[in-house]
Amino acid sequence: MKVIHFSVECYPIAKVGGLADVVGALPKYQRKLGIDASLIMPWYNKPFVQNHEFDLVATGAIYQGSELLNYEILKEKDDVLGFPVYLVKIPGKLDRDEVYMYPDEAEQWIAFQHASLHYLKTNGIMPDVMHCHDHHVGLIPFLTKHTEEFRSFNVVKTIATVHNGQYHGTVNWNKGILLPQFDTWKWGLLDWDGFINPLATAIKCCDSYTTVSEGYLKELFNEANGLDQLFYAERSKGYGIVNGIDTDIWNPATDTLISPNYTIKGVKKGKTDSKKAFAKKYGLDPSKPLMAYIGRFAGEKGADILPSIIKKLFSNANNNLIIFILGSGEAETKEGLENLLPDYVGKFACFFGYNESLAHEVYAAADLLIMPSRVEPCGLNQLYALKYGTLPIVRNTGGLKDTVIDVENNGYGFVFDEVNADEAVVAIERALGLVEDKPSLDKTRKMAMELDFSWDQSAAKYVELYNRILN
Ligand code: GLC
Repeated sequence: MKVIHFSVECYPIAKVGGLADVVGALPKYQRKLGIDASLIMPWYNKPFVQNHEFDLVATGAIYQGSELLNYEILKEKDDVLGFPVYLVKIPGKLDRDEVYMYPDEAEQWIAFQHASLHYLKTNGIMPDVMHCHDHHVGLIPFLTKHTEEFRSFNVVKTIATVHNGQYHGTVNWNKGILLPQFDTWKWGLLDWDGFINPLATAIKCCDSYTTVSEGYLKELFNEANGLDQLFYAERSKGYGIVNGIDTDIWNPATDTLISPNYTIKGVKKGKTDSKKAFAKKYGLDPSKPLMAYIGRFAGEKGADILPSIIKKLFSNANNNLIIFILGSGEAETKEGLENLLPDYVGKFACFFGYNESLAHEVYAAADLLIMPSRVEPCGLNQLYALKYGTLPIVRNTGGLKDTVIDVENNGYGFVFDEVNADEAVVAIERALGLVEDKPSLDKTRKMAMELDFSWDQSAAKYVELYNRILN
């Protein structure tokens, strides 16, 4: 079975968020199951692609409206990711320093989708399944069925995976002329509330759609930024498949970015030593429990309540902990945190930015990880944390709800219901109570590390789904 994934992110080539981690792992694990899985993604500028080598495999040209766009297809040398990665290079459209936030985003992703299909067609590549990740590639299931140019692909099955249903990639209809010539009477499949809505199009036109956890599928029926009814109406083809983690990269026993390495048996010493080294670097007291936050500062992630959580925690003299935050994003949150730094010297430190290897160190060193997300389709950080014996404190939503069981229910984490500092602090104080109780901490850490959130099971579920839609 030949499967081509379409995505605009893939770790380690271009990562902004969890989408990249999933796309950088899923095809590899599918290949272990005998599936011929590969990926097609945009080619970006340095620094994204600088550590990779590529071969030129094809060239071609498409029209976007009246503009002629030449493209090159580059293939990553030696499949170092464990699966073939094809990159579409379009000068002026895709060769950029960032992935997102350009004013001509519509032109960018239309060009990517159009050139990808053009390359596949002109080179006679006919997959069984096209697997599209998020709205940036949401037009593929439409283009393969309702354009003259790509009609030969109408036998190909399409899957749309929703990593984040809040973003739809909405495009003004006056840009409709930039699309490959489509069957005009099918315009309704592109439309949602007077706009071209690529996520809605994907859900309408795909053979099956998936969400990255089961809990999130149900949430989308009630809250999908206006597409709730559509997700519900199309529910017979909707499936929740929880993400896995790539244990080639995320495994404290083999992780080359942490020191020392540790296994379940050696977790106590491993984490104590990691924390000592880490706390020293950031001027924190290693004898205290370390709670961390890792991630984007965005409303969805609930990062805006971090400053008040920190103030509340430190205002209670009984709370003996140190806090580390690694992230970037909304300026207000960053300022809120920065303003607190002078008040809590030795107790609180931050790294503002994106730093993959620091994230590994933090998972190894931390005792607790806080995730106060408003929306969390799956969440990978709690899964990385568990693998490193770091106990997650999470809001009861989406994939967090599905993957974290509270210690009160014989689980390995701490769950709270509302996104506010008071509720978060109650959960954190419960967690600190457990951390102080060394035998319980040890037992709970081991339980967390023994959980299996590897890709093996989830990759197999996707393959099952492919088989179902193919038969
Ligand atoms: C998005 C979601 C996150 C999910 C990731 C990978 O970033 O916000 O919850 O884990 O995609 O599917």
